[in-house]
Amino acid sequence: MAETQLRVTNLVLPIFVKEGISEPEEISSMPEVFRYPIGDKLIKFVESNVELGIRNVILFGIPSFKDNIASSAYQSDGVAQRAIRLLKEVFGEKLVVMADECTDEYASHGHCGIVKTSGSSYYVDNDESLKVHARIALSQAEAGADVVAPSSMMDGVVGAIREELDKNGYKDTLIMSYSVKYASVFYSPFREAASSAPAFGDRRGYQMDPRNSSEAIKEARMDIQEGADILMVKPAHTYLDVIRLIKTTFPEYPLAAYHVSGEYSMIKAAVQRGWLNERMAVMEITYAIRRAGANLILTYFAPKIAEWLREEDPF
Ligand code: PBG
Repeated sequence: MAETQLRVTNLVLPIFVKEGISEPEEISSMPEVFRYPIGDKLIKFVESNVELGIRNVILFGIPSFKDNIASSAYQSDGVAQRAIRLLKEVFGEKLVVMADECTDEYASHGHCGIVKTSGSSYYVDNDESLKVHARIALSQAEAGADVVAPSSMMDGVVGAIREELDKNGYKDTLIMSYSVKYASVFYSPFREAASSAPAFGDRRGYQMDPRNSSEAIKEARMDIQEGADILMVKPAHTYLDVIRLIKTTFPEYPLAAYHVSGEYSMIKAAVQRGWLNERMAVMEITYAIRRAGANLILTYFAPKIAEWLREEDPF
């Protein structure tokens, strides 16, 4: 009688790829999550997940070079581009490769756009940032990404990317937009993982205020008008009401939800202390995200969930 079904194909596995390392590195605030060098170990890891039925990955690149215009984000031999190319070569149609499109991991200032100063203060120049985002997205599509996923929350970024992709013949490359992305403390472990904490200021100028929900409709609608194929709400567990709101307002659009790093780490910390049963906690929360209306769930627990789903009674 259970109303909600969760399948392995609903899952998207986030993967960190890093330049300049030879062995996978565990992320201290995200136990059992690793940064991978591009090569055999990455292929092995992805292979083990493909064998479990996982069809989707989203890649985050950690470059060894950063500057204030995030130029390493759009090089054809950049870390994300090389990883995309390798995974598409090895797995082809068996794997949907999504690429996170942002500047923060590649910029010395750690912001999601181009930073300008005026006097002693600084600001992120929205419109100037669109050019660099379009350029990054194009380089990811050229490398073979099936889906580009702009996570900057810059106004107009989806439209700028769609135009750039279409102009260059990438009409079939999908855009999964981080449409509704809150300025959340729950990204903290990710920022350790990707060394992407802002060097100054915070992201409240472009990410959403956690006290707002109607604004989520406006953000999603703008992205739809600009050509987004898939919408996203992020974080997921803390924003189940927003997932439901977006799903019921725009039922015709596939919706993704991102169970983010801090939401992962909270569970892991409690599990390590013996305070929560990992499987029960993870399955309850993942079903809740699905029940709220998410079609795709980005989760660091994907490998474990995929295994649990193989059992007759996964929950
Ligand atoms: C930006 C980006 C972030 C995450 C995904 N894409 C970090 C941020 O906005 O600070 C966070 C994901 C997570 O916490 O798991 N490139």
